[in-house]
Amino acid sequence: MNSNADLAALIRNIPDYPKPGIMFRDVSSLLLDAEGYRMTIDRLAALVDPDTQLVAGIEARGFIVASALAYVLGLGQLMLRKPGKLPGEKIGTDYTLEYGTDRIEMHVGHVQPDQKVLLVDDLIATGGTALAGVDLIQQGGGRVEQALFIVDLPDLGGAAKLRAQGVRVASLIG
Ligand code: PRP
Ligand code: ADE
Repeated sequence: MNSNADLAALIRNIPDYPKPGIMFRDVSSLLLDAEGYRMTIDRLAALVDPDTQLVAGIEARGFIVASALAYVLGLGQLMLRKPGKLPGEKIGTDYTLEYGTDRIEMHVGHVQPDQKVLLVDDLIATGGTALAGVDLIQQGGGRVEQALFIVDLPDLGGAAKLRAQGVRVASLIG
């Protein structure tokens, strides 16, 4: 497994899921492959800014990437959760993604003032989810200068929107 093309070959493309017209990039088949999963995390870890202080993962698939990355980097993980899951005082934001609408929430006080937070998800499409993540972390007082994804679907414009917000974006595929 020498290149990111090898990782891309482990991702299944499923047409018309969850809605007609959507080509779903299914990372579950990549995660199932021990070497593929390890290479994915190692290659993402190599891209992380050295002064990163916290890794933020977006529920649910983002947690699988962010957790492994935080562990490898020796950093904590900030959970950005879908609605109704966080027990403490929280802030939230609604957003639109490629195939629907949703909301993510974050515990108040879980980001320190000016803390440098890396945003991580499995995939960026329209960028609605990632931009909501940036918004929440900034509302909480943190700074998001970098975002990492396994897959970018550049035709949907999400990475460009994040870059327009001053976030450096990298992905392994796309
Ligand atoms: C997927 C993916 C990203 C988001 C990207 O999550 O994991 O979070 O869509 O789409 P966007 O760039 O158009 O916003 P989904 O909401 O399907 O949830 P899941 O992780 O729980 O499967
Ligand atoms: N999230 C948003 N768009 C997606 C797609 N095409 N495949 C997988 N996850 C997605």
